[in-house]
Amino acid sequence: MVTAVARRLAERRRRLDAVLAPFRLSPHALRQVKGKMRRELERGLRRDMQGTATVKMLPTYVCGTPDGTERGKFLALDLGGTNFRVLLVKIRSGRRKSVRMYNKIFAIPLEIMQGTGEELFDHIVQCIAEFLEYMGIKGARLPLGFTFSFPCRQASIDKGTLVGWTKGFKATDCEGEDVVDMLREAIKRRNEFDLDIVAVVNDTVGTMMTCGYEDPKCEIGLIAGTGSNVCYMEDMKNIEAVEGNEGKMCINTEWGGFGDNGCIDDIRTEYDREVDEGSLNPGKQRYEKMTSGMYLGEIVRQIVIDLTTQGLLFRGQISESLRKRGIFETKFLSQIESDRLALLQVRRILQQLGLDGTCEDSIVVKEVCGAVSTRAARLCGAGLAALLDKRREDQGMQRLEVTVGVDGTLYKLHPHFSRVLRETVQELAPQCDVTFMLSEDGSGKGAALITAVAKRLRQYLYAMRLSDETLLDVMARFRREMKNGLSRDFNPTATVKMLPTFVRSIPDGSEKGDFIALDLGGSYFRILRVKVSHEKRQTVQMETEIYNTPEDIMHGSGTRLFDHVAECLGDFMEKQQIKDKKLPVGFTFSFPCRQSKLDEGILITWTKRFKASGVEGADVVRLLSRAIKKRGDYDADIMAVVNDTVGTMMTCGFDDQRCEVGLIIGTGTNACYMEELRHIELVEGDEGRMCVNTEWGAFGDDGSLEDIRTEFDREIDRGSLNPGKQLFEKMVSGLYMGELVRLILVKMAKEGLLFEGRITPELLTKGKFETKHVSAIEKSKEGLSKAKEILTRLGVEPSHEDCVAVQHVCTIVSFRSANLVAATLGAILCQLRDNKGVGRLRTTVGVDGSLYKMHPQYARRLHKTTRRLVPDSDVRFLLSESGSGKGAAMVTAVAYRLAEQHPGQSHRVVLGESPKEREAGGEEGETPHLGGFQGGDLPSDRRVTLAMLG
Ligand code: G6P
Ligand code: G6P
Ligand code: BGC
Ligand code: BGC
Repeated sequence: MVTAVARRLAERRRRLDAVLAPFRLSPHALRQVKGKMRRELERGLRRDMQGTATVKMLPTYVCGTPDGTERGKFLALDLGGTNFRVLLVKIRSGRRKSVRMYNKIFAIPLEIMQGTGEELFDHIVQCIAEFLEYMGIKGARLPLGFTFSFPCRQASIDKGTLVGWTKGFKATDCEGEDVVDMLREAIKRRNEFDLDIVAVVNDTVGTMMTCGYEDPKCEIGLIAGTGSNVCYMEDMKNIEAVEGNEGKMCINTEWGGFGDNGCIDDIRTEYDREVDEGSLNPGKQRYEKMTSGMYLGEIVRQIVIDLTTQGLLFRGQISESLRKRGIFETKFLSQIESDRLALLQVRRILQQLGLDGTCEDSIVVKEVCGAVSTRAARLCGAGLAALLDKRREDQGMQRLEVTVGVDGTLYKLHPHFSRVLRETVQELAPQCDVTFMLSEDGSGKGAALITAVAKRLRQYLYAMRLSDETLLDVMARFRREMKNGLSRDFNPTATVKMLPTFVRSIPDGSEKGDFIALDLGGSYFRILRVKVSHEKRQTVQMETEIYNTPEDIMHGSGTRLFDHVAECLGDFMEKQQIKDKKLPVGFTFSFPCRQSKLDEGILITWTKRFKASGVEGADVVRLLSRAIKKRGDYDADIMAVVNDTVGTMMTCGFDDQRCEVGLIIGTGTNACYMEELRHIELVEGDEGRMCVNTEWGAFGDDGSLEDIRTEFDREIDRGSLNPGKQLFEKMVSGLYMGELVRLILVKMAKEGLLFEGRITPELLTKGKFETKHVSAIEKSKEGLSKAKEILTRLGVEPSHEDCVAVQHVCTIVSFRSANLVAATLGAILCQLRDNKGVGRLRTTVGVDGSLYKMHPQYARRLHKTTRRLVPDSDVRFLLSESGSGKGAAMVTAVAYRLAEQHPGQSHRVVLGESPKEREAGGEEGETPHLGGFQGGDLPSDRRVTLAMLG
């Protein structure tokens, strides 16, 4: 008898062990899991794996942990865990830093979790409304941080596209949508209050930040709750999907999806498969389904059903309760496994769940629970060990000391989970000293801290971010300005002057001779000798000298300025030993000039750094000629005055005959392009084209850009040499960009948002932060170390977060500039397209200017936005390698020929082909300035056609 009982017990033991054996993972099996997880973590970071990796490694755009300067009053939502909460979070900064929170838990009924997206978000907004009412704060438009505990692809801190629902959620029409937009729309639908949604945050990230507020070493956030996930601070250089190499960004690993490619199928049991098949997302989140609270009870239930079927439990009777999915919630699992409970109490819990069994049954169920939860903790430990070792190795450390912030019901409530997890980590990552820090306040606090950081930056920078919609609007406005400038009636009052240049063609290859070019108005004053020879093919030889133009000369009398120019020219000719020659001179003068012929330029107004008296309203050719004559030591014949945009178009036109736009993004900004003569009402004639210098720098001088100008733009203007003028230029060009950044930094520092509120005299000095610094800081590799260097020179001791923030400010300011130029350039491109009457424009834009050339990202951004704003165009951007001087010489060459051929008639010179000649010459249908010339070789038989008008 005794032996029969003993045999029965032994048999029962054997069968139970057989069922539970696959749950008892060996150290070897765990190490294998660790290795596989490590591989998946690395794969997820790779750009080429973005679509296919199962561990998604999502960038979160959270670039630092809290530094104690966060402050303000915020609303937080916390959706996706056991409870849905709405919170009000008040954060104080400084020495008495503190966080106060008020929260309310709301239920989300199952039919809403699995209804439509609209219903879900309407419900959320309904809960917010109740909370605001309850707190008596309905009127305030508070900033909101949204903890949304599901995988989201983010392109910025305030955008999150749901990759796929997990856990118990399955609302329709949400996957692939931006959940921030959905929330915003629901708020709009309700039309009762408004909120400023600043950040969307995963619960792991919220947890890391909550713990990071107390312990700066906290760089990992772990959730072991309803779901399972981890986030951590990764080096930017390892995140291929995000531009930039400096600093860190938090990565939401979404490790719950580990194994979805089958890589851990060897350790999955039939019960795991059963649970997966019965879940809302079969085949997905396989690792999560073995490790998190939502599923552990389900695994237990599957095993219990099997054991009951085998007659090992509940007298072989499968009760109604046992058939119910979800009866074993995490909290029951935790209770059953508690050592403090007597068997009888376990039995009572089971009875409450409708599972009426003996004490023996209770022992077995408890053992099953233990096996399942231990496996979960060990698997979770293996995953964490993989991440810890990766971080240790990435940083080249012998030992890694790190804090892991943890939250989640499983970790908090289960009696053994946290211990087993810690032991496993120790076992598998022995070179890591890990402190586990329990998050006491949930993710909402962390989300509020993130919101505080994002909000303070956004406050200043929001207005600088221009949507495509706004840019298209700016483009349309500029197109109207162009029309006004071209019209005879509106030109006198137009802000964008659209100045005729009397240049009617780009070089055609027949130019030759020996010329001097002056190039005044950009960063450098240059004098060049340009020799264009014409053997078999056209070649250009250039010699350049750069001369200083001291500020007192730029700001003194006009006479002194031109005496200085004449003196430099004398020096140059001396050096070239050509003082006895009277070489033709082309004058690149990079300021707005009204011209009625090629060799006359009446300065409308000084711009940029210049403000010499008595020049505005005068002809700069005459002023310079007079200064040269006064010297009497050499003679020069100024044949053409050319804007730098025109010089650039001509320089680039020499290499690419399709070039019909000249663009400058340097000290100042401007563009010229070939316009149909019939549209230029200020110049007689209807046929052919003429280059128009738009002088777009003045765009906005009539108030038409006020809606997009910021307080910083206004401050720049007030402190400039020409207040109220060149307002577009002041938002865009290199003379102002560094100063714009400086003003923003000062404001942020004053509010304690940067440099711990320290402001130094250097930081307060106008001009101390230069545009070249913006370029250096935005370099992808060494940008942040440059930021540190530059800021240190300004006397502040920047933290890493400061450097990241400053880099961000630089990016926003320079991005805005490129976007604005794309909009105005887009208007010109549309005009060209419409002029030609083609569906798709093919053209080349010649570009020059220090900002465009030196800034590491500018050109690419400009090209990209331009193509987006004018999609029906193929635009080639051609960098002018040799400055405007060469182009000016080209213009001069033709003017010179003209003067030689028609002595004494140099007034009203027009460069290019006249309609009459074209008719006579019979080149029907050809555009005036171009033939079939391709590439660099110029056929020597090209005709140059010049005309005298009037
Ligand atoms: C956090 C939160 C939750 C989150 C949870 C995970 O701190 O504030 O919203 O999702 O912990 O735990 P749970 O067990 O509730 O899923
Ligand atoms: C050109 C020139 C300059 C001109 C400049 C714009 O090609 O030759 O004189 O004004 O580029 O650039 P910057 O950055 O010098 O203002
Ligand atoms: C989600 C994660 C989340 C985790 C813990 C998972 O199901 O995919 O985004 O962090 O649960 O709540
Ligand atoms: C001037 C333009 C010039 C541009 C680029 C502006 O300030 O008004 O004539 O083309 O700067 O140098």
